[in-house]
Amino acid sequence: MSADKVFHSRSQGIPSEGVKDQYADGKAARVWKKYIGDSNQRTKNYRDFLSGLLRKHGCERVLDVACGTGIDSMMLLDEGFKVVSVDASDKMLKHALKARWEKRKDPRYDEWVIEEASWETLPQDVQAFLPGESFDAVICLGNSFAHLLDEYEDQRTQKMCLRNFAKVLKPGGLLLIDHRNYDAMIDSGATPGHSIYYNCRYPVDIKTSVLVVRGKPELVALDYCIDAAEDELNTEKSEFRLCYYPHKLDSFTRMLEEAFDGRATHRIFADFQPLAQVREPAYYIHVMQKAMD
Ligand SMILES: C[S@@+](CC[C@H](N)C(=O)[O-])C[C@H]1O[C@@H](n2cnc3c(N)ncnc32)[C@H](O)[C@@H]1O
Repeated sequence: MSADKVFHSRSQGIPSEGVKDQYADGKAARVWKKYIGDSNQRTKNYRDFLSGLLRKHGCERVLDVACGTGIDSMMLLDEGFKVVSVDASDKMLKHALKARWEKRKDPRYDEWVIEEASWETLPQDVQAFLPGESFDAVICLGNSFAHLLDEYEDQRTQKMCLRNFAKVLKPGGLLLIDHRNYDAMIDSGATPGHSIYYNCRYPVDIKTSVLVVRGKPELVALDYCIDAAEDELNTEKSEFRLCYYPHKLDSFTRMLEEAFDGRATHRIFADFQPLAQVREPAYYIHVMQKAMD
C-alpha cells in the first residue's frame, strides 16, 4: 500500500512519486531543522543516556543510519565518538554536510564521514565507501525507522532492513532503535507535541490521523504545525506532513529479535528510563546486543 494513495506525504503543491524520501522537496528538511531546535541544546537525559550506554559497552565507532540533518551524529562527535553518518535523503544530508564544512577546523568534524545510503542496501552501500568496515554500534533514532511503510503488508522490507543493521555490526555490537508509542497513539488518536529528543523553541501542534485498513492500523500521518509567528525573518509556513508505519511494541520486539536470529540480548527503555518505571511513554528505545560469535 502506498501512502500517497490516501495521504499526500509531502508539503502541498509538491508533486511526488512514492514516499521513499519524504523530505525530497527540501521544505520538510528545513522545517524539521526548526522542529529539532538548537543542536547544542539536546535534552541532558538523552545525551547522558546515549553516550553513557555507548561508553559502558566500549563502543567507539558508531554508524548513524538515519542521520538526517546530523543532530545525533554531532552530539556523538562532540562526546568523542568516531561517527559515520548515512541517510537516504540528499536534502537532509545537505544540512549535515554544511555543518561539517563549518566546523572543519575541528579534527573530529574533519574526520566525520557522511554518505548517502539506504537501509535496504546498507551493507553494500557501506562496503562501497568504507570497504571491510563494521561498527561497534548502529543508531536509528528520532522515530526514523517508522518512515518505512509496509508496501507488501507483510513487513518484509522492514525485516530485511533490520537484518542489514545487524549485518554491519561487529560481534557484541549494539543496535539502538526507537519508535513512538504507537500503541498509545492508536488508542488516543493524539501525539505529544513535545519531543524527548529535541528543543523546538516554538509551540508545536501535531495533528494525528490513523489509517485503518481491514481493521489493522497501517499508517499514521502526522501534520506538524510550528507556530513561529514571532520569527519575523521567516515567512515560510512551518507546516509539513510525515507518514509513518505504526509499530506496536509487541510486534516490533518480535521482528527485532528475529533479525538477530533470536541470539541477541534485548533491552527496552521508555523515554530513557527502565520500561517498568514509565506508565505511558512517548517513545520506546530498543537496545540489541549482537551475539559474540
Ligand atoms: C525523522 S528524520 C530523523 C533524523 C535524525 N535522526 C533526527 O533525529 O533528527 C528520519 C530520517 O530517516 C531517513 N530515512 C527514511 N527512510 C530511509 C531509508 N530507507 N534509508 C535511509 N534513511 C532513511 C529520512 O531521510 C530522514 O532523514
